[in-house]
Amino acid sequence: MEPNKIEIKSPEGKLGVLIPGLGAVSTTFIAGVMMIRKGLNKPIGSLAQMGKLRTGTGADAKEVDIKEFIPLAALSDMEFGGWDIFEDTVYESAANAQVLTKDDLESVKDELAAIKPWKAVFNKHFVKNLDGVNVKQAPTHWDMVQLVKEDIAKFKQEKNISRFIMVWCGSTEIHQVMVPGVHDTLANFEKALKENHPAIAPSMIYCYAALDLGIPYANGAPNLCNDIPAFWELADLRKTAMGGKDFKSGQTFMKTLLAPGFKARMLGMKGWYSTNILGNRDGAVLEDPESFKSKEVSKLSVLEQICQPELYPDLYGDFYHKVTINYYPPRGDNKEGWDNIDIFGWLGYPMQVKVNFLCRDSILAAPIVLDLVIFLDLAQRSGLFGNQEWLSFYWKSPMHLPNQEPEHDLFVQLMRFKNTLRWLRNEPPVTTLGHETYN
Ligand SMILES: NC(=O)c1ccc[n+]([C@@H]2O[C@H](COP(=O)([O-])OP(=O)(O)OC[C@H]3O[C@@H](n4cnc5c(N)ncnc54)[C@H](O)[C@@H]3O)[C@@H](O)[C@H]2O)c1
Repeated sequence: MEPNKIEIKSPEGKLGVLIPGLGAVSTTFIAGVMMIRKGLNKPIGSLAQMGKLRTGTGADAKEVDIKEFIPLAALSDMEFGGWDIFEDTVYESAANAQVLTKDDLESVKDELAAIKPWKAVFNKHFVKNLDGVNVKQAPTHWDMVQLVKEDIAKFKQEKNISRFIMVWCGSTEIHQVMVPGVHDTLANFEKALKENHPAIAPSMIYCYAALDLGIPYANGAPNLCNDIPAFWELADLRKTAMGGKDFKSGQTFMKTLLAPGFKARMLGMKGWYSTNILGNRDGAVLEDPESFKSKEVSKLSVLEQICQPELYPDLYGDFYHKVTINYYPPRGDNKEGWDNIDIFGWLGYPMQVKVNFLCRDSILAAPIVLDLVIFLDLAQRSGLFGNQEWLSFYWKSPMHLPNQEPEHDLFVQLMRFKNTLRWLRNEPPVTTLGHETYN
């Protein structure tokens, strides 16, 4: 392979992490980073912090820490800022979310209490089940963009920040499809911002501000946001990295583990029934059918791509997939998911697999946020821009070009991810061919 000419800029200076939505996931992420910085805990779940990759072959092969292999932003250089429709500080919001224990939160209370949310860009039409007071007022969407940019500029000056990343950790907005004349080109989108077009969601206003300033953007929710041609165009124009959608944290993570395994063994599947109970604010928002629709589309897309029913009609041609989420307050953030999988084997004999995952939503999502911050920053410092397909490992519904299939198989995604890191360092890819492993 031709060596690439990529020069990875050194991660010097402070990295500002901008977060629309200071709720359960983002406060768990911020509190965790602060505890880890103080040496009070370990970054479990983060590939950037704990992962290794193999370099060299044969006798020269060795496993190295990813963070030693390639220059990554240090946790100590991160500064956090964000917007929310509630006035709670990050400490108060984390306490309300009840993900982390009181003792854990007390250990970083001062730092968390110092982060006060900026006024949010909000429109109840896009999140029906929320109302908040900490909301910006401006005549048009275009003016809103300027206010978001002002928040960023102020933060940059106050904290002496060199680079930024924005990660949407806000509530799931209603399901939208691309609206021609609004979302299809950058010129149309900018016109629509000025004309206050109703098809522009708040998430798009933050995203436009970020990309236009050359700030990489990640969409942690399943709503449309940056997955529109106008933003692909803007990301190219400003040479800015981006990614999405929807953190792959719990049930879908399990699906992308199990389904490739069944398929590898040529076991058929008749159906996959998934249901969840969830009692946090995310669960309350997803009670609204229009927000749930965004989540449902994101969750359903996975198995179709992995199974390829058009190639394997005998195994997956007659496959039924159902996903539901039920809001059940007593469980808070501790989601419980049940999966019933109807599979069949030799001569078509049926079998069942049951998965009961008692997970913690924000505990699973927090290291994903951290890794996305770190690897999008790496992409940007390496001059990569547009959709970062190599980070599809982290997404339930990876963004992709219209003429390309997204990759959902977790281990294919992991291999792509590690090989991209190797490629960035001009290290040969690992294809796991025997001769390259053993010779
Ligand atoms: N936890 C997981 O495992 C997981 C996995 C995939 C995706 N997600 C997504 O991540 C997002 C965050 O999840 P969460 O559990 O932290 O939810 P949450 O309800 O605790 O937090 C979301 C926060 O966003 C705020 N918000 C809503 N609209 C806003 C706006 N326009 N501007 C600024 N703030 C706004 C809300 O007030 C709330 O505080 C959700 O969209 C969720 O679907 C979570």
